[in-house]
Amino acid sequence: MSKKIVGICGSIRKESINKALLLQAEQFLPDDSKLVLADISGLPLYNSDLESNMPVSVYKLAELVANADAVLISCPEYNSSVTGVLKNALDWLSRPAVNTPLVNKPVAIMGATPGVLATIRAQMHLREILFALNMDLVRRPELLIGQANGKFNEIGKLTDERALSIMNELIANLLEKVEEKRLREVMVFS
Ligand SMILES: Cc1cc2nc3c(=O)[nH]c(=O)nc-3n(C[C@H](O)[C@H](O)[C@H](O)COP(=O)(O)O)c2cc1C
Repeated sequence: MSKKIVGICGSIRKESINKALLLQAEQFLPDDSKLVLADISGLPLYNSDLESNMPVSVYKLAELVANADAVLISCPEYNSSVTGVLKNALDWLSRPAVNTPLVNKPVAIMGATPGVLATIRAQMHLREILFALNMDLVRRPELLIGQANGKFNEIGKLTDERALSIMNELIANLLEKVEEKRLREVMVFS
């Protein structure tokens, strides 16, 4: 069964290492499946006053996620937590509060930083947020890339064999969750 994964990067920087990490995940998808990167750079700051006339950028993001089988998030760590742009995107996707496109959606997370703590604090916070959103999180393995400057080559490809092998397992577990969800839905409707 072909699968569509939406990639959300917690950095909107052109040369983002987390974007490079996200793009790398495509190599672990089967040929009939694809990774589509969400553009969260144009989202306004969340403001409930805008909900009566939802911005088009929010609709587009919500539609992309709703039509995807799973979400893959790569996020840097800012001041020991997730970035504001990622939290803003998740806040928008959590509205209106009923039947958001995130509920029960399989999701996997990862992160890279030049620092030594490898985004562990951001990922801990992100896990809490995703639980609150009722997403179906891949708990293991944890893909934490510290001292990232030495782990990507000049064309932005991750070269660290251990990290690549963890990414392979992470994506496999995400696809397995998608398949389990599909089978559960088939059983409910048959
Ligand atoms: C405002 C700000 C706060 C940061 N705080 C942290 C931090 O707490 N931990 C960390 O490992 N790196 C921190 N960094 C460094 C980022 O990890 C680094 O800039 C990284 O390259 C950002 O990811 P990106 O390349 O995907 O944009 C911070 C950077 C900025 C701009």
